Amino acid sequence: MTQDHLLGLKPALGWNSWNTFTWDINEQLIRDVADRFVSEGYKDAGYTYIVIDDCWSLKERDSDGNLVPDPEKFPSGMRALADYIHDKGLKFGMYSCVGTHTCAGYPGSFEHEFQDAKQLAEWHVDFLKYDYCFKPRQISGELLYKRMSLALKNCGRDILFSACNWGEDNVYQWIRESGAHMYRSTGDIQDSWESIKNLALSQLDKACYTGSFCHNDMDMLVVGMYGGSNNNFIGHKIGGCTDNEYKTHFSLWSMMGSPLMIGCDIRDANQVTKDILLNQELLKINQDYEGRGAYRIKPEPQWFHTGDVFMLVKVLSDGDLAIGFFNLSDSQREISLQFWDLGLPYASGFSLELFDCWAHKNLGKFTERFNPVVPEHDCLIVRAKVVK
Ligand code: GAL
Repeated sequence: MTQDHLLGLKPALGWNSWNTFTWDINEQLIRDVADRFVSEGYKDAGYTYIVIDDCWSLKERDSDGNLVPDPEKFPSGMRALADYIHDKGLKFGMYSCVGTHTCAGYPGSFEHEFQDAKQLAEWHVDFLKYDYCFKPRQISGELLYKRMSLALKNCGRDILFSACNWGEDNVYQWIRESGAHMYRSTGDIQDSWESIKNLALSQLDKACYTGSFCHNDMDMLVVGMYGGSNNNFIGHKIGGCTDNEYKTHFSLWSMMGSPLMIGCDIRDANQVTKDILLNQELLKINQDYEGRGAYRIKPEPQWFHTGDVFMLVKVLSDGDLAIGFFNLSDSQREISLQFWDLGLPYASGFSLELFDCWAHKNLGKFTERFNPVVPEHDCLIVRAKVVK
């Protein structure tokens, strides 16, 4: 086995079928996504993994206990699909579950971990998302993630292990040791501003639980979905956000070091969606080599400031700082940053040169403080260089 010791070094970048397509998946869709990754610049921007989520198999294993891809959805089989994706220089991901069944009721990997890991290796799979439904109550999730991690690490192929237990059972306390490369720390995202905001707020004080080789996964992106999901498990279509809200969502996930798994139908993404998903400045921040979490600075206490107005700061490996001014509240706010809160006192004689990562322009040199006005549900992301 060739061990790629850099597997999971940075947050994974890719696409996942669930948010938009749920059960309605097939090999042509996956091939189309792979084609678009190349032709529309996603691959060049760093997006690599194309992941099939739940609902890909038959409802029963075969007589040898193997998982069987649904022949109607995937008539050419998984190895052929993996080859197609690999030929484009991309990587192939699949999905299974800790429990006896997946969340949508297909066979899970419980007591089949080593068999399934071997099967995935034979199909040339590069990524496994591993869910948490139908887990026997008497066995701990911690043990079952350790099991699959060990099975994957010994299956003869480098497979990135993406744990998905929705932040349950204090997962951040034990998941890094289990061997997973990323872990879901939240419940499922919905294509709505409320969902984006709640997920982000829930992770603000968890910066110390993310880092290289085990990233805090805040769930797949809803950027560009505009309410267009067939996920109607709850009985009706919901959601949709404004372009600014999608921009803020992408900024939060990027700054907070989450894997960025696109969830929209990239075959008909509009230009705004592409500009968001392909923002090189944000991707560079997300993929920074040192993989540090972002710390929060609360604005000076003022009667009008609520917990949904804050700054996030990510220390970058080249000495720059990525600084996000986030206004998740419902009205415009001035957000005041005092540079001493960054470790840059006035007496140091240093200033910050600021580059606006969404407007793609220099804002100039600032000393001691910077006070942008940020509209509601919006953000400003700057890359700050320490200068004389
Ligand atoms: C959920 C998971 C989702 C999706 C779904 C499939 O538990 O959080 O991301 O994978 O199951 O049934």
